Amino acid sequence: MRVLIINSSPRREGNISGMLTHAAAVAKDAGAECDVISLYDRDIRPCRGCMACRSALACPIHDDMASIAEAIKSADRIIIGAPCYWANMPGVLKNMFDRLVYIFIADGEHGLPRPLLKGRRALVIATATTPMPFARLFGQTSGTVKSIGRILKMGGIKLIPSLQIGGTRRRDITGRDLRHVGRAVGRLLK
Ligand SMILES: Cc1cc2nc3c(=O)[nH]c(=O)nc-3n(C[C@H](O)[C@H](O)[C@H](O)COP(=O)(O)O)c2cc1C
Repeated sequence: MRVLIINSSPRREGNISGMLTHAAAVAKDAGAECDVISLYDRDIRPCRGCMACRSALACPIHDDMASIAEAIKSADRIIIGAPCYWANMPGVLKNMFDRLVYIFIADGEHGLPRPLLKGRRALVIATATTPMPFARLFGQTSGTVKSIGRILKMGGIKLIPSLQIGGTRRRDITGRDLRHVGRAVGRLLK
């Protein structure tokens, strides 16, 4: 089984990075092949909205996105780590999704999108400085998860329950958080 981990936090020592490092270790221990993509280390230019990808099935911009597209297509399981930015996903992650419309959906019947990534499952891990339960109740971590989940679902990717960690200004990631990560990865690999 191939697991792809996408880190959309710029903070190498941050909460998301710590949890994703643990997620990778758990996935590898379980025998999965595991790739990690840190979006801030990649050259990802913004979508130009030219729509050329919809017919050419490739993006005319030459940067690191082609390899990221291949990594997503060849993954069985995807783990996305995202700090909450403005109750949403970080721009770098949205930018990645903007560049990937052509691998997520095609034109289907009645003008509706046809999902192209069926058969994959995903876990979203989100953090926010807003403490719990407010980070969930007021759309902070929950807004981040929802906006990512909507895109994944359009591609036909099934989501397992997310992990949401609030209050990160006042606390570091704990052993308990990592145990939650381990259990979530276990569920994802089933
Ligand atoms: C540009 C920006 C926007 C943010 N917006 C929010 C927000 O809307 N709500 C919130 O609770 N925290 C917000 N935060 C705080 C981050 O979500 C928080 O610091 C997170 O835990 C960082 O995770 P990391 O250590 O994994 O990078 C924002 C941080 C940045 C840099």
